[in-house]
Amino acid sequence: MSDARVTLRPPRTDDAAAIWRLLPAIGGLERNTAYAYLLVCSHFADTSIVAERDGAIVGFVAGYRPPTQPTSLFVWQVGVAPDARGLGLAGRMLDGVLAAPACRDVRYLCATVSPDNQASLALFRGVARRHRIPCEEATCFPARLFPEPHPDENLLRIGPLPASS
Ligand SMILES: CC(C)(COP(=O)(O)OP(=O)(O)OC[C@H]1O[C@@H](n2cnc3c(N)ncnc32)[C@H](O)[C@@H]1OP(=O)(O)O)[C@@H](O)C(=O)NCCC(=O)NCCS
Repeated sequence: MSDARVTLRPPRTDDAAAIWRLLPAIGGLERNTAYAYLLVCSHFADTSIVAERDGAIVGFVAGYRPPTQPTSLFVWQVGVAPDARGLGLAGRMLDGVLAAPACRDVRYLCATVSPDNQASLALFRGVARRHRIPCEEATCFPARLFPEPHPDENLLRIGPLPASS
């Protein structure tokens, strides 16, 4: 199912405050500083995406290319407003970022996920299933590395994606 009113596009700096305001409603995601979302919407705009419906941001993917992993796209955060969920929007946003020119040579989609986040696990496993590629799971940032109570963040590594011509 899809919602034809939702359009996907790279973020602009004037989206950063809207993303920051949306985070409490999304829930389950750490709300970082507004400045961090300004960086996403400027330095990482080519590897990020927002979903807009009736002029409002209803979803976003914050992604970047890790300098030490040049063939990977790392998805730092993905979130969808509660009233826009269950329409395949998060999956569309991930595919949209992967299709961006800045991701032409990306072979692996990586993200960390808490083991109890069933929606997020289903989202990333769904990307692997649609593209018919493996999804490997490994330890990444265990709870002990966080200064405050925090679940483990396990790495999902999806790929290899086919090289684009
Ligand atoms: C995770 C999230 C982004 C998914 O957004 P969405 O647009 O509803 O996801 P989609 O509709 O694209 O669904 C993707 C897959 O997840 C599954 N899914 C969605 N919500 C689910 C839930 N609550 N429990 C289990 N599976 C779920 C869908 O069935 C679909 O699986 P399929 O491909 O096997 O059919 C959204 O639930 C969200 O914003 N959650 C809070 C923030 C968060 O936890 N982000 C991820 C951590 S980085």
